[in-house]
Amino acid sequence: MSDVWRDITVSFSSYPYDIVRRLQDLFGLSEYEAVNVYDQRNYYKPVLHTKHNYKKYPIIENQYPEHSSLINGDCLEELDNIPDNSIDFCFADPPYNLNKKYENWNDGIDIQAYFKWCDKWLSSLARILKPGRTLAVINIPQWCIRHFKHLKTIMDYQDWIVWEGLSMPVRMIMPAHYSILCFSKGKPRPMPGFARQTHSFLERKALETLSENYCIRPTCMKIRKRLKHNDTEIASNLWWDIHRLKHNSRRVDHPCQLPPNFMYRLISLFTHENEIVLDPFNGVGSTTLTAQILNRRYIGIELSEYYCKIASERHKELNLGLNPFRKNGGTPKAKNSPVERLKKQKYEVSKKNAST
Ligand SMILES: C[S@@+](CC[C@H](N)C(=O)[O-])C[C@H]1O[C@@H](n2cnc3c(N)ncnc32)[C@H](O)[C@@H]1O
Repeated sequence: MSDVWRDITVSFSSYPYDIVRRLQDLFGLSEYEAVNVYDQRNYYKPVLHTKHNYKKYPIIENQYPEHSSLINGDCLEELDNIPDNSIDFCFADPPYNLNKKYENWNDGIDIQAYFKWCDKWLSSLARILKPGRTLAVINIPQWCIRHFKHLKTIMDYQDWIVWEGLSMPVRMIMPAHYSILCFSKGKPRPMPGFARQTHSFLERKALETLSENYCIRPTCMKIRKRLKHNDTEIASNLWWDIHRLKHNSRRVDHPCQLPPNFMYRLISLFTHENEIVLDPFNGVGSTTLTAQILNRRYIGIELSEYYCKIASERHKELNLGLNPFRKNGGTPKAKNSPVERLKKQKYEVSKKNAST
């Protein structure tokens, strides 16, 4: 069992019996032992968006930046060079301080120092964002709670997206989700992905998800397509249909790249064409590449010269008409898992036949 429970349905107005029962089971409580339930859903009230009034600030329309760019540098310094109210969407995928092996970054610093550092770049991102626009930050849920605490003092809460991206089993419940915390600068504008009348093919695909409970065997999907059944629905804030980039042939040399489909969805939701997307931790370019493919302008900042160079090479490939997310032959040096890789296995019965 993982920490995403999609098999339980709870309505906002009723008592969550099934959840309480599962918690009882999980923590070994018998039916007759008392469980104190603090139901905080009553505190979930719509935000009035009056707290932070950014109307007085001028918006810099289409003057900044002249060109999309990749910047090799420290985001805290580089963000200082970007004007107030000039960016349409900021997305941050920072190091999570979980001892990942980055090329030149210590991912295991004192946790209070980590939070202090995060507060600094979060504040800078809030400053450069245009009013009504969104700042989205992805992190593990515990750290997002801390980001929330800081962000609510300067911005307005907009959404909390859960990305179910299966991870390694550790100890008890399989950690299977990341949080994407979304705050707007003052009152949010109508959500671009839902507000616009027409979508490009890629935008439409990114905003749709396969309906739950449909059989995903290719033969079944083919039959339903022939019968013109609609297999898709608009994605909610629980993203269970985007897989992590586990397969090495789809990765370049970086320990934690985001999958392109994840970025397509995020950018399609929060921006329109020609708008400007900024990522202060651009890594090997997942954000800036998808932004370019979706006809958005971009600024990607990355500390490591090596990762920045990989991103830049991939943009060059894209400009030549190649798919930068295509399969490649090599095995990246950077590992995305602390577990040793197994040698390629040879099975007596192929995996495909074993299931039938
Ligand atoms: C979680 S990774 C982002 C990966 C990226 N989303 C991708 O798909 O390629 C975090 C990145 O932040 C970079 N980084 C760490 N500290 C930084 C800083 N102060 N300024 C800019 N980049 C930094 C690391 O080198 C790493 O590539």
